Amino acid sequence: MAPLNTARFHVTGELRVPGDKSISHRSLIFSALAEGNSRVRGILRSQDVQSTAGVLRALGVDIPELSGDISVTGVGPAGFRTPATDLDCGNSGTSARLLAGVVAGSNITGRFIGDASLSGRPMRRIKIPLEAMNARVETSATGGLPMTVHGARLQQIEFSNETSSAQVKSCVLLAALCSGIEATVREPTRSRDHTERMLAAHGVEVWVNESAVLLFGGQSLTSLDLEVPGDPSSAAFFAGLAALAPRGELLLTQVCVNETRTGFLAALTEMGASVVLDDKALKSGEWIANVRVKAGGELRGITIPPDAIPTLIDELPLLACIAAYATGETRVTGAGELRVKESDRISAVVNNLKLLGADADELPDGFVVRGTHPRLRGTVTTHGDHRLAMAFGVLATLPGNEIAIDDRDCVAVSYPEFWEDLRRVTA
Ligand code: S3P
Repeated sequence: MAPLNTARFHVTGELRVPGDKSISHRSLIFSALAEGNSRVRGILRSQDVQSTAGVLRALGVDIPELSGDISVTGVGPAGFRTPATDLDCGNSGTSARLLAGVVAGSNITGRFIGDASLSGRPMRRIKIPLEAMNARVETSATGGLPMTVHGARLQQIEFSNETSSAQVKSCVLLAALCSGIEATVREPTRSRDHTERMLAAHGVEVWVNESAVLLFGGQSLTSLDLEVPGDPSSAAFFAGLAALAPRGELLLTQVCVNETRTGFLAALTEMGASVVLDDKALKSGEWIANVRVKAGGELRGITIPPDAIPTLIDELPLLACIAAYATGETRVTGAGELRVKESDRISAVVNNLKLLGADADELPDGFVVRGTHPRLRGTVTTHGDHRLAMAFGVLATLPGNEIAIDDRDCVAVSYPEFWEDLRRVTA
């Protein structure tokens, strides 16, 4: 079959992607923990963030309906109440793991539930440190949800995690904050640090270096006026699309470019794409920039070093898709965590690529994709995973490809307007 001819395809325009998902979850949780009224502008209004809002309401916090500009009245670190209902986290691992820390540190009991995907995801990783702090955590027989967290007066902890995880780190820090105790969390490589940055913006003293975070005990949070920057994991789909297009340019405005999140832009650059950050500025503790990606570069395959994985973990399915249109091989290892995301993203992305006609193989902790510039045909099975739907959605826009997606609606978890925005920049 002739290779894909994208000569007439182009991208154009300017896009402000929705607010960062990780920061949006945290903005609600930390506003709830603070004294007085905090203001959050530009929060992501997606299903996952709605899950966090719903759980906080069940814990007695008056979270208003999510809009572009909300005000949250904090209840303080000791103000959470025993919920009268189950705490439904939907599809959201961040909601379950961070809010389990809140319940554990608040000396209350809460039962966390979620959809089929979340129920199968591992919770032992938070059970271990929370129980070391003196809470009790009962998971399902397979170590997932339903999970009942019995809070207690916690004791201080120095926890060394085997795997880097911002959710686990944040769970421990939140438990410590609610109990007023000191906590140290060490990780093999630094995970995304939005929790530490937001705590500092709320006036909390946290000590941070490359591999550890130390939170001092007995601290309270001042209120904050926060504008949530654009989500780099959502911007990535458009950066990737621009890199694949033969002509045009996309300007992605006000994107969070925190260096724990920019691994995908670095990878695209290494593959040969033209990526420029303009007007970089620090706002409420987070670096923000306008990201300009020019089309027309010839992409080449790359090897991602394992220690870079945390900086692009959520973008790896997209990277695999783009690698099919790079010359040579792209290899990812050290990314076993992908198997326990919203789906097993290693097998899901490789199986879909193969089924459509690309050349890819699974590795135990990653994948190899050999770039053949294929014409892809078939139906993608997303397993309800938003990032798979969007990654293959990008490939579906390339002329010559005939790709259907079994569940387009699952993008609502992180980017409800994705299909509309995709149409806009390729029109
Ligand atoms: C997140 C942390 C990462 C990431 C997830 C969001 C967060 O998960 O993959 O999408 O907001 O803390 P892990 O903590 O499991 O690495």
